[in-house]
Amino acid sequence: MVSNLNLGMNQHTRASEAPIPFIDIAAQRRRLGPAIDAAVARVLAHCQFIGGPEVRQLETELAAFCGARHAIACSSGTDALLLVLMGWGIGPGDAVICPAFTFCATAEVVALCGATPVMADVDADTFNLDPASFERAVATAKKLGLKPRAVIPVDLFGLPADHDAIASIAAGYRLKVLDDAAQAFGATHKERKLGTLAHATATSFFPAKPLGCYGDGGAVLTDDDELAGLLQSLRVHGQGTDKYDAARIGITGRLDTIQAAILLEKLKIFPDEIAARNTIAQRYTVGLDRAVVTPRVGNTSTSVWAQYTIRLAPGRRDALAAALKAEGIPTAIYYAKPLHQQAAYRAFPVAEGGAPVSERLADEVISLPMHAYLESGVQDRIIAAVRGALAR
Ligand SMILES: Cc1ncc(COP(=O)(O)O)c(C=O)c1O
Repeated sequence: MVSNLNLGMNQHTRASEAPIPFIDIAAQRRRLGPAIDAAVARVLAHCQFIGGPEVRQLETELAAFCGARHAIACSSGTDALLLVLMGWGIGPGDAVICPAFTFCATAEVVALCGATPVMADVDADTFNLDPASFERAVATAKKLGLKPRAVIPVDLFGLPADHDAIASIAAGYRLKVLDDAAQAFGATHKERKLGTLAHATATSFFPAKPLGCYGDGGAVLTDDDELAGLLQSLRVHGQGTDKYDAARIGITGRLDTIQAAILLEKLKIFPDEIAARNTIAQRYTVGLDRAVVTPRVGNTSTSVWAQYTIRLAPGRRDALAAALKAEGIPTAIYYAKPLHQQAAYRAFPVAEGGAPVSERLADEVISLPMHAYLESGVQDRIIAAVRGALAR
């Protein structure tokens, strides 16, 4: 998702003002430094860099955290998605419905399996898969002679998708639901944490994610015992009874022990960080009220605020980004182009009716600095800068 982790992208022209990071990984590092150093030192001492005890411990704790029966740690969020599709045997002739407004990995894994991603539109208020367009995408896939097999709702920017509606439509067509919670681990829907709301849930521990490690990492959460067993094999080259028994085609999809050790320390403070993110999001929403369209969270869900994304009338965004940049405030656009307009995905089908909301959002959205350590004084500076720029 982001390449501008903390340091100074788009930043500062006023020497008097400290540069504001977009995501401040260094602040969390200051809080957790000694604990993480000790955790890494333990791995360096036991030298089990692959499959060390921290990996299993992390899986146990991730599963307990979200209430899933199984957590299978793996090498990235993309591999988490891919492993599940491989486990379900998705392949040529199959269609998998994806939202058009997401990071490319959501649809990339479908294409990597040889199946066809069919893009559906999203809801303008939540940025998440529009159930009606999802249903139209199923019809589009069938008309094209494809076999709809699964849907990948994305919990974009940290907010759960409309899981009830999606699960009910998916059940009607016997589709599997793979929740792409790469941006939303820790978020809840009707007081249940993501990880239990779909047949399988994939998440990412990319450093900029709400729960990030110090490199690439991911996990699959599922209640399905059979799938969990398959994923454990698929992430190690389709391993069978022993290391050199290849039972099926798999990948190198493991999570490194050092990353698991780091995540175990971060998981301890994660609930506290989620609370901080929510306080900060609430301050933005109050501070920016009426100046911009602020993100809406319904009363049945909670977000982990991977991004705080506002909307402006088309044509106003570039001026705002430039004004904020001049004040040392970085911004980012997720996503400037919906998937069906990207060179790599243009040839894939779009649900009947197209994806006009995704196209509009791509022109309207802009994300503001968001992380658990954003101080109120700094946030006030950002809010004042946004209001000031829009009043000009
Ligand atoms: C919605 C979404 N899906 C999948 C991914 C892939 O995760 P990773 O970068 O860990 O492979 C990302 C990461 O940015 C994402 O935002």
